[in-house]
Amino acid sequence: MADNCNFVSILGVLLILTMFDNPIIVYAGEGVPNVALFTFGDSYYDVGNKVLLSKDKNPAQTKWPYGKSRDDPNGKFSDGHIVPDFIADFMSIPNGVPPALKPDANVTRGVSYAVTDASILGSPAESMTLSQQVTTFESMKSNWTTGYIKKSLFMIYIGTEDYLNYIQKHPDADATKQQAFVTSVTSQLKTDIRSLTNLGARKFVVQLLAPLGCLPIVRQDYKTGNDCYELLNDLAKQHNEKIGPMLNDFANSPDIDGFQFAVFDFYDAILRRTQRNLNYRFYVSNSSCCGVGTHNAYDCGKGNVHSKLCDYQRAYLFFDGRHNSEKAQEEIAHLLYSANLNVIQPMNIRELIVYPTGEKMREFWEPNTFSARRRLPSQDSYAGYSA
Ligand SMILES: *[C@@H]1O[C@H](CO)[C@@H](O)[C@H](O)[C@H]1NC(C)=O
Ligand SMILES: *[C@@H]1O[C@H](CO)[C@@H](O)[C@H](O)[C@H]1NC(C)=O
Ligand SMILES: *[C@@H]1O[C@H](CO)[C@@H](O)[C@H](O)[C@H]1NC(C)=O
Repeated sequence: MADNCNFVSILGVLLILTMFDNPIIVYAGEGVPNVALFTFGDSYYDVGNKVLLSKDKNPAQTKWPYGKSRDDPNGKFSDGHIVPDFIADFMSIPNGVPPALKPDANVTRGVSYAVTDASILGSPAESMTLSQQVTTFESMKSNWTTGYIKKSLFMIYIGTEDYLNYIQKHPDADATKQQAFVTSVTSQLKTDIRSLTNLGARKFVVQLLAPLGCLPIVRQDYKTGNDCYELLNDLAKQHNEKIGPMLNDFANSPDIDGFQFAVFDFYDAILRRTQRNLNYRFYVSNSSCCGVGTHNAYDCGKGNVHSKLCDYQRAYLFFDGRHNSEKAQEEIAHLLYSANLNVIQPMNIRELIVYPTGEKMREFWEPNTFSARRRLPSQDSYAGYSA
């Protein structure tokens, strides 16, 4: 009997300690709120829209070796799943979210509007700009109630096309012109996010741009060998620096109640895996697994090209010239879902989906203080903070 009492009280103490240590505990699949996932962006998040949109019904990404790791080439740019597939899994959404352009899709738990070649500015061929994706969401909006949209997740990854195209067309643009371009891209992004809030969206996840100059296709195009192309890294950095403050402004805006967000430092996550690849067990991070050329960066999956395929794709950070291997995508998804403030601010997806809907955030994005930063025992000092 005495033993039992001790056991019970120890359990009690453990329970209380656990409660204080982790105010919010959610495991994938257990107690995850029933909310939807809406994704916007380019090929990184495309789950098949490009195939539905373009005249070519059998583009490379629908053919082996795409989908190789799951024996399932299905229009995604990876050897298997992509980040939104894993996030959907963690959110207990069965079978991922369907492409918006698929007729009769079951859209109950969300939809993907992302399409390969999408950009923020311009009018990409056989693709959509972010604002066109937002308009498509608007046309389907009556599938969900206002309350459901408010508590659902809106994930965005876009901008790569804008910067790669810009540098291709304006290789000699000076610093002033580059800054002006970054400002026009980020202003339009801001407009598009604002439009989503007008349609009822309140919970946003924005993935910062990768170090674009380190993509195998960029190293190959600009013949940088084992180095990254710093000009493109720099543009990505300039772009990324504007995102946190922009989202802080939204969260503090009196016009939008309960705007909540997470900013994921994808730039740093990829740079670490590029520079210290062995620490992360990626044996090759400077060229891709599948393709042709100095960095195997072109034409993966093209039927008439005998593109090289590596022996073991999980050893590679990049599967093709610009997209990560499934192993890397899975790591990235785990970081988005549950990493700490060094990687995702001011909270991760796991926290964002349970953060009370309609409430103002009490912590915000902060620049360059990641490793020094700790959650304070009292959050009062953050009240009224504005960046
Ligand atoms: C659509 O998906 C939801 C949840 O994912 C499920 O409950 C529902 O039965 C599905 N509807 C149809 C018609 O399959
Ligand atoms: C719901 O989404 C589908 C796309 O799967 C779309 O065709 C349909 O128009 C939408 N319905 C409403 C009521 O918005
Ligand atoms: C990639 O890095 C390895 C060493 O880690 C080096 O041997 C190889 O030449 C590099 N590849 C390219 C294309 O620069």
